[in-house]
Amino acid sequence: MKFLFPLSLIPLAALAQVLPVSWPTNVAPAFTPLANLTVTFPKHTISNANSGVFLPITEVQAEPTLSLDPPLSGTFLLFMIDPDVQPAWANILHAFKTDITGDATTGVLSGGNPRTPWFGPGAPKGDPPHHYTWVVYRQPANFRVPNGFNAGNRIAFKLADFVRNAGLGAPVAGQYLTTVTP
Ligand SMILES: *[C@@H]1O[C@H](CO)[C@@H](O)[C@H](O)[C@H]1NC(C)=O
Repeated sequence: MKFLFPLSLIPLAALAQVLPVSWPTNVAPAFTPLANLTVTFPKHTISNANSGVFLPITEVQAEPTLSLDPPLSGTFLLFMIDPDVQPAWANILHAFKTDITGDATTGVLSGGNPRTPWFGPGAPKGDPPHHYTWVVYRQPANFRVPNGFNAGNRIAFKLADFVRNAGLGAPVAGQYLTTVTP
């Protein structure tokens, strides 16, 4: 019995690392981030301090700048997904970019190849707030877009299938905001 108390603390400590809070698990299962992702729009910044913040839809239309804290160098893939479209399988792919460079000093994620170009938040009027969610993965050295993936088809995107078929492993970082169409 004497080990019960310290052992029971370990899972709690591990859970505390699973950020951002209230991660939308209908995008990707909860994971332990290697870095915190900051999403910067001209008028708003979303970080772990305000994950999921509700913002005016007109102020989150321009493609945001992303950065990792701590900075990670290397090559990354990025998805931005709206998982709240009905029916539930109809996830919308708002952005898919490959070959993004992580700056080892500033943490800024720059450049990259927009396979599915950024498309700002937008949902049917009357819908509850949707969770617009960024997910960053390390890009494997031998990365190829999986067979069957159509970058021109934003509807019913299945991230889990993509991740499995491309051998991506767990996300490095993620972030999200919420907004509605007035
Ligand atoms: C993310 O930021 C939080 C503070 O908001 C910090 O406790 C945590 O260690 C950071 N995560 C990583 C992976 O650096």
